[in-house]
Amino acid sequence: MLKTEHICVNFGGIKALVDVNINVKPGNIVALIGPNGAGKTTLFNVITGFITKYSGKVFFKNENISYKPPNVIYQKGISRTFQNLKIINEVTIKDNLILGLLKKKIKKYYFKNFFRFDKKFRKEIEQTLDYTLELFGISEWKDKTPDEAPYGVLKYLELARSYLSSPALLLLDEPAAGLNNFEKEKMIELIKKLKNEGITILMVEHDMNFISSLADKVYCLNFGKIIAEGSYIEIRNNPEVLKAYLGDEDA
Ligand SMILES: Nc1ncnc2c1ncn2[C@@H]1O[C@H](COP(=O)(O)OP(=O)(O)O)[C@@H](O)[C@H]1O
Ligand SMILES: [Mg+2]
Repeated sequence: MLKTEHICVNFGGIKALVDVNINVKPGNIVALIGPNGAGKTTLFNVITGFITKYSGKVFFKNENISYKPPNVIYQKGISRTFQNLKIINEVTIKDNLILGLLKKKIKKYYFKNFFRFDKKFRKEIEQTLDYTLELFGISEWKDKTPDEAPYGVLKYLELARSYLSSPALLLLDEPAAGLNNFEKEKMIELIKKLKNEGITILMVEHDMNFISSLADKVYCLNFGKIIAEGSYIEIRNNPEVLKAYLGDEDA
């Protein structure tokens, strides 16, 4: 589903990614772990086209999508969430969700001409939104603005928005971060649901319970390099991984 070849990114003097090769099989959940600053978000930005200054290649379903801009990559079927939420604060939760339909059902002119569309079309959209709000458990918040909702609801909203674009591949940047244990369990269930619908998932995460519950495969990045790959069990006991997280002596 996704393959990167020899990805390198430099920010001034900082080598953020060094020869990164990953391979994500269709239907799998793959986790990307590593200490802060390891380059995880940078790799997401390369794959989704938010960074185009890099060397190496990115393949999506065997198509070379290297250096393409985010809108093109999104149209091809890769969707993402953000480590720092990207949500519009001035409109309701439900109106934020509409953005997820931009790709398929609604063209750009929808936003200008919504009220000129016939009732049937509007009803269809309303039904899709209501169904999705229900699926992600955020119906009761739909008419609130984001600043009135708990952080967990906003994380579910971002996931729901990505889901609405019917991605083949979903990139989740720290889906568990900032959630309490109850919210984390619900997030795990939601991600399992998306997997069951056939969506392939690559996620950056630190939470080990999260990873052990979900990941078919784990990559560990440290200082821009992949230092280990394998199952959760293999990675958990890998001395290089322990060293990267804990430092030499503690490991
Ligand atoms: N836009 C940028 N400009 C300059 N340096 C950046 C930029 N984005 C990330 N970096 C640097 O690249 C490294 C990797 O960052 P990042 O990918 O955000 O790490 P992670 O997500 O693993 O915590 C860090 O040293 C970070 O400071
Ligand atoms: Mg990050």
